[in-house]
Amino acid sequence: MGRIVYVNGEYLPEDQGKVSMFDRGFLFADGVYEVTPVVNGRLVDYEAHMERLARSLAEIRITGAPTRTALDNMHMGLIKKNGLAEGYIYMQITRGAADRDFKFPKDVKPTMIGFTQTASLIDNPNATVGVKVVTVPDLRWKRRDIKSVMLLGPVLGKQEAYEKGAFEGWMVEDGYVTEGTSSNAYIVKDNTVITRGLSSEILAGCTRRALFRLANEQGVNIVERKFTPDEAYGAEEAFLTSASNFVMPIIEIDGHRIGGGQPGPVARKLRELFLQEAMK
Ligand code: PDD
Repeated sequence: MGRIVYVNGEYLPEDQGKVSMFDRGFLFADGVYEVTPVVNGRLVDYEAHMERLARSLAEIRITGAPTRTALDNMHMGLIKKNGLAEGYIYMQITRGAADRDFKFPKDVKPTMIGFTQTASLIDNPNATVGVKVVTVPDLRWKRRDIKSVMLLGPVLGKQEAYEKGAFEGWMVEDGYVTEGTSSNAYIVKDNTVITRGLSSEILAGCTRRALFRLANEQGVNIVERKFTPDEAYGAEEAFLTSASNFVMPIIEIDGHRIGGGQPGPVARKLRELFLQEAMK
């Protein structure tokens, strides 16, 4: 039996979850999305995800989107109907379906869909050994702070990384790492975590935000600044964060071994703190 998915107010078997071929998400990538982790049947960092969703919607001027109550009901409904213990909820809202015209259509109703994916977020075997990263060009548009469904740059970057035997691509622009194709990027030097500051050049990760709070509580120093691939090659540690990986240690970048090829102590500690909080 397949999953139960959500489409515009209805819960349906996944093979019946359909939207119009005129949907602007399909024709223009005119929509935004969120991926929220679920651990022990409970949403992790949900408030941060809903806050970012509201901001993304406002930035691309989608009006009349489902209310916060509808969003809460959908997230809870999907977990319940699918008996989801661990994994995530993917959801997206597009401007809706209308005849093809670049301008915003009048009187269109936004489309909302949601579905579950199961994944081992806590006992993730990748986290024990660490993952490899390669650098790829950052091909994206200039508003990466909006969590838009327009993901062709990241799709090509992730595929290039995969074909080179890596888990993630770190995107590079003007000589500096922006972020991963679907994660934020960090290096560690002299016990200090270094990550790019927030701007329209990267997505403000919800996991990043939680990491800052945990690091602050534990006295782990974080500096927000750009770093180059070269600097990363010589770092003591590297890691990435995302809703689907939490804190993931990196042991190799472009073939350069990081931290002797083992997950480093700072990344391991931050991951542990994150997991403890997620399992509460
Ligand atoms: N991606 N940067 C980019 C470009 C991302 O796509 C993501 C998340 C992040 C991390 O954000 P967060 O910690 O809120 O997940 C950073 C999700 C997981 C995805 O597209 O599947």
